[in-house]
Amino acid sequence: MVIVNSKYFYVLAVVLFFSTSCRKAKDFPESEQDPRLSGGSQTTFNNGSGAFDQSFFGLNAHDQLIHDIGDTKFSSAFVTAPAHVNPGIGPLFNNISCGSCHPSQGSGSPPQAGQNAGLESFFLLLSNGGVDARGAPADVPGFGNQLQNNSSYGKQKEGDYNVTYTNQTFTYPDGTTAILRAPTYNIVNTYLPFPANTKVSPRMAPSVFGLGLLENIGDATIIAMSTQAQTDTNMIAGLPNYVWDVVKNKLAVGRFGHKCERPTIEQQVAEALQQDIGITNKLFPNENSYGQPQYYDDGLSPEINDSTLNALVYYMRTIAVPARRNVTDATVLRGEQLFKQAKCAGCHRQTIVTDVNITLPQVSNQTIHPYTDLLLHDLGPGLADGRAVYNASGQDWRTCPLWGIGLTQIVTGQTTFLHDGRATTLEQAILWHGGQANYSKVFFTHLPKNDRDAVIAFLNSL
Ligand code: HEC
Ligand code: HEC
Repeated sequence: MVIVNSKYFYVLAVVLFFSTSCRKAKDFPESEQDPRLSGGSQTTFNNGSGAFDQSFFGLNAHDQLIHDIGDTKFSSAFVTAPAHVNPGIGPLFNNISCGSCHPSQGSGSPPQAGQNAGLESFFLLLSNGGVDARGAPADVPGFGNQLQNNSSYGKQKEGDYNVTYTNQTFTYPDGTTAILRAPTYNIVNTYLPFPANTKVSPRMAPSVFGLGLLENIGDATIIAMSTQAQTDTNMIAGLPNYVWDVVKNKLAVGRFGHKCERPTIEQQVAEALQQDIGITNKLFPNENSYGQPQYYDDGLSPEINDSTLNALVYYMRTIAVPARRNVTDATVLRGEQLFKQAKCAGCHRQTIVTDVNITLPQVSNQTIHPYTDLLLHDLGPGLADGRAVYNASGQDWRTCPLWGIGLTQIVTGQTTFLHDGRATTLEQAILWHGGQANYSKVFFTHLPKNDRDAVIAFLNSL
């Protein structure tokens, strides 16, 4: 038994009284928050190769099990039917599993230059410039919306594609140079003549952590970021995309994909299953060749049951965000100051508060640092694909979230950036910015070399 000396107890009680009860709770200013907590309470301090695959904190045993089932499904290869496990791939597909395109839940890479693409973490979206009844890009007859360059069941793949690069030399005002590679995509060996004037949009797989937090950034918050900037000439106005929500059957604010073309994680995942792997599901019950000469109904739809799809969606919603590193380093702090001065933060928003969410408390009311506004911005002709999607023009792209970007090499073993992976360094990614980001790019290029390095050091701390 512990005997408390009554005199000390009295002193302790008085100290506690004055240190707690007399002080009124004060507001917690942004500057006092730990800058490492990129994902608010859902920030992981794992900064190794598993940094993009840590589950949310505070999941109960049941929810953790669902997360783990989704995690396993994410990395499992689908095979041709009939089979006991994961049947139903194809007949037309791009790759065999989610994980082969999002390696270690990180971003992918473009195909090897000069040779036809095989199983890539990459695909080409297509359109003929027209729109369908819902405002989505109209299908290209015989090819749909996405070129599937692999097939099973004796069906023919839609075609092959390859990329070649032309090097351009960028010269800084101080005379330093950097090489930028501009890609050209060629579509060859198509099973039908490829329609002329087809618009082609190359897409590299982005990383997939922290998406539950991004999904819980409210529509009103996204719209406010757009409208505020339209009235304040010091800010950079982006536009929300409004895209077809297949569950709600109406237009909704888009969040996912390089042009914000999908409103929810569920729709994104279901469409990935159908388009990228050829797995029909409750939201997309037809094979991706529907309406094309090769289509046939194998009578197996849905090829993934609803509960497995739900687990995959839940998994995608509940991956934590890696914490920042080196936040007190003087060079990193200098880089952050320059990042703001260059107005990079006008699009790559540093701080956003998510909506209240009573069904998933982990994403509710979180102060996060995603470095995106989930808005579309015109980045100029250099990055243009010419393929419009709803509100997004052929020059518009979604501001890439930059959280975790400094861990890309550690997690995926390589670095390629931008929607098509043309940049192999962060410096090149910045130099490709134009259009609404031209001020930022010019600001960056006029900095002395050590300050440019500080900006890169800052990006690497994210
Ligand atoms: C062939 C490669 C490929 C496969 C297979 C694939 N993805 Fe993707 N994924 C991509 C690409 C490319 C994008 C960007 C699409 C766009 O811009 O519209 C993407 C985007 C996403 C996004 C949106 C991320 C964001 O920040 O906007 C999620 C979530 C996602 N994929 C999950 C999955 C899941 C789950 C699977 C398995 C069912 C899967 N993907 C299979 C290539 C792939
Ligand atoms: C007008 C809005 C805007 C401004 C200002 C802006 N960016 Fe971006 N940034 C974007 C968009 C949009 C993309 C995606 C482009 C793409 O996918 O091709 C992007 C992509 C990037 C990427 C590549 C990320 C990845 O994962 O591939 C980096 C790095 C980046 N920006 C850094 C910066 C820096 C540093 C600045 C300031 C010097 C800056 N950006 C200013 C909109 C902006």
